[in-house]
Amino acid sequence: KKIVFSGAQPTGSLTMGNYIGAVKNWKELEEEHHCIYSIVDSHSLTVRQDPKAFKETCISFLVQYLACGLNPEKNIIYFQSHVPQHAELNWILGCNTYVGELGRMTQFKDKSEKHKDNINAGLFTYPVLMAADILLYRSNLVPVGDDQKQHLEITRDIAMRFNNLYGEVFPIPEIHTPKIGARIMSLQEPSKKMSKSDDNVNGTIYLMDSEDTILKKMKRAVTDSANHVAYNEEQPGVKNLITIYSSLTGLSIEEIVERYEGKGYGAFKVDTAEVVIEFLKPFKRRYDEYINNLDYVETIYKNGAKKAYELAEETMKVVRDRIGLLQK
Ligand code: TYM
Repeated sequence: KKIVFSGAQPTGSLTMGNYIGAVKNWKELEEEHHCIYSIVDSHSLTVRQDPKAFKETCISFLVQYLACGLNPEKNIIYFQSHVPQHAELNWILGCNTYVGELGRMTQFKDKSEKHKDNINAGLFTYPVLMAADILLYRSNLVPVGDDQKQHLEITRDIAMRFNNLYGEVFPIPEIHTPKIGARIMSLQEPSKKMSKSDDNVNGTIYLMDSEDTILKKMKRAVTDSANHVAYNEEQPGVKNLITIYSSLTGLSIEEIVERYEGKGYGAFKVDTAEVVIEFLKPFKRRYDEYINNLDYVETIYKNGAKKAYELAEETMKVVRDRIGLLQK
């Protein structure tokens, strides 16, 4: 059995990109492995949050994790900020990470471009905290989307560096991305990834979107003038819709392409919307159940934090000792 760790930042609401790129795999992995899924609230603080709204978003995210079918009996679900060892290991790893390495991270460059008025130190050291998340549980496998590749690379570099300096402590974690759907694109700009925080909401399908909204967004999805359903780089918009269709139904790309042979984009878009809507029906049902049972939700994240804390403390005892800190 492997130790699996992953997380999502609680901003806005989960997107179809988050689901297909990551959460879908989390669910599959929890059947066989020891899985730890965090809501990485501390990471979200790199962008200024409204405190009251942030609390609500955090709870909503937890409920969305559960509504995606993650099973708190089989995994550990918790809020990152509830386990202070993340911050502790972040500091230690930060002292073993170079400014030059962090400066090369594309996400930092993108985000500091976008939030010019708030290029804070947390944004810069974001990847160190992410490395701490993963290494704190001595994780083997990290199921994420394509956009996290560079973060995984630096995590591996930091782990190797630490092991070389202080002896083997951390397994070198492997990235785990889906074969198709590792990068779901914006419906409006198919050259750009679908993102929670896109200014153009029409580009993003949120799991919390209403059925009407989903249909509207799908109908408006940018395609091309070829007007036949095919899976290739010249038709990135259509390719993206086929990817979503396939990921949610389990049908192969070929089966889908065949199904729309000789049909235009109209029917294909409406059907893709239908696929998403059908997929989201049980999600919404579960969301409503949990959101009306917040006492139960609270026991889940409190238990999760307790279990995560114990595992984290085991690692930290070793880490503190290896680097020469006295035991308390
Ligand atoms: P976040 O919150 O941006 O996204 C959560 C997960 O969803 C994946 N994802 C996508 N996959 C496919 N297509 C897309 N358009 C798409 N958009 C997002 C992301 O790759 C991610 O797996 N830094 C992380 C959170 C994090 C983390 C960690 C992840 C913090 N610590 C430790 C793994 C392990 C992030 O911002 O993900």
